[in-house]
Amino acid sequence: MKSERGNFGSQLGAVLASAGSAVGLGNIWRFPTEVGKGGGAAFILIYLAAIFLLAMPVMVSEFVIGRSSRSNAIGAFQRLAPGKPWVVAGIMGVVGGFHVLSFYSVVAGWTLHYTVQAFLGQLQGVHSVVHGQFTTDYEASFKGFVSDSWLPIAYLTVFMLMTHFVVSRGIERGIEYFSKLMMPMLLVIIVVLVGFSMTLPGTADGLRFLLKPDLSKVTPSVVLSAMGQAFFSLSVGLGCLITYASYFSQDTRLVPSARNVCIIDTFVAVLSGFIIFPTVFSVGIAPDAGPGLVFITLPNVFSMLAGEMSLAGYVFALLFYVLLLLAALTSSISMHEICTAFVGEHFRLSRRAAASVVTVICLVLGSFCSLSFGPWKGVTVFGYGFFDLFDMMVTKFLMPIGGFLITVFVGWRMERKLVEQQLTGGGALSARTLRLLLVLIRWVAPVGIVVIFLNELFL
Ligand code: PFF
Repeated sequence: MKSERGNFGSQLGAVLASAGSAVGLGNIWRFPTEVGKGGGAAFILIYLAAIFLLAMPVMVSEFVIGRSSRSNAIGAFQRLAPGKPWVVAGIMGVVGGFHVLSFYSVVAGWTLHYTVQAFLGQLQGVHSVVHGQFTTDYEASFKGFVSDSWLPIAYLTVFMLMTHFVVSRGIERGIEYFSKLMMPMLLVIIVVLVGFSMTLPGTADGLRFLLKPDLSKVTPSVVLSAMGQAFFSLSVGLGCLITYASYFSQDTRLVPSARNVCIIDTFVAVLSGFIIFPTVFSVGIAPDAGPGLVFITLPNVFSMLAGEMSLAGYVFALLFYVLLLLAALTSSISMHEICTAFVGEHFRLSRRAAASVVTVICLVLGSFCSLSFGPWKGVTVFGYGFFDLFDMMVTKFLMPIGGFLITVFVGWRMERKLVEQQLTGGGALSARTLRLLLVLIRWVAPVGIVVIFLNELFL
């Protein structure tokens, strides 16, 4: 059935769009950093548990809410529980959608800048002479760029317009079409880059760093980081997947789709580690565990490789930033869609008009975030600059609280028959799997989220 709101044309399109939302800067930029800070393989094990026990049940629940309501994140709760306070979960999601798109696009804008630099063969740092020696300071170069008033905002604007273009074309012609194009490209690039990094001399050291469990680093706050990372990486808790699932057709199988998205997302995150750490170790640099990894350490490594291997090094660097850009774009599209679907349906605007409203608001908020690295460094709210404030608000609060409310809603408030019908519809699901899933949705995920969340707040 074709609805006026639009639909994904196929199950493959639905899975690739959801996987596109999941695979993003979170996998390639944030995950390796968190692994480095959280004790290598020990962190990965906790992360996997968080993905399959906590985040995946939230994803399945969002799918159930979205497809049974066929509405945006706020409208979905109004339709399924009219007049009840559950709508708060939807409101938090849409508010979170605006904020996450705003700060995310800043980093995506940096990525665009580095992609252009890589293309021009100019991934250079600031050159200076220290103690009579000629050195290149990549940190100064990065900091100089991000603290500039206008340049990062210009890149942010171009990136936001790219996102706007896709979203305003609609579900099938925009989001689905571009996901089907970009996701296979992304997966091919990742495999090529892993192949390349495995030929570098640092492979063994890099893999040891990534895979050696260091239990001494595992603290309660590492467990919270793993949960935060799992939620961010799978895009759950903000109603993004409620919105996408509202465009799923009735024969899209929700549980296998969720499983496939989790597998693709985890695969890309782990492979990004396989690309980054061997590359960094190959030139004998210590991987600094911080956001600078991708924008400070790697350009340095790439320029050394380009020096040694000329063409191969150039191609490697360019492919890496194209990969990061594709990943950022498929995710930002989904954040934009949370807001566009709501604005369009609530205010009865055309898709184009709704998308334009969202783009303008996020450009303004995004510029605030960008300026907080430069001229507005001193402007703080509760002691945080805009970028850090938005980041913290979304990842530390809105996502876990949203995830909790969503699983409780599906597990305890929605009619059981409707939930089972959604979960089993479109294909057989064994009675055992269904029972297990319901236990995860009703007990494991909500209790797990509360325990981890309170532990962090009060300990
Ligand atoms: N999952 C995306 C990433 O890993 O980069 C980020 C994200 C997308 C978060 C969509 C939230 C969202 F609604």
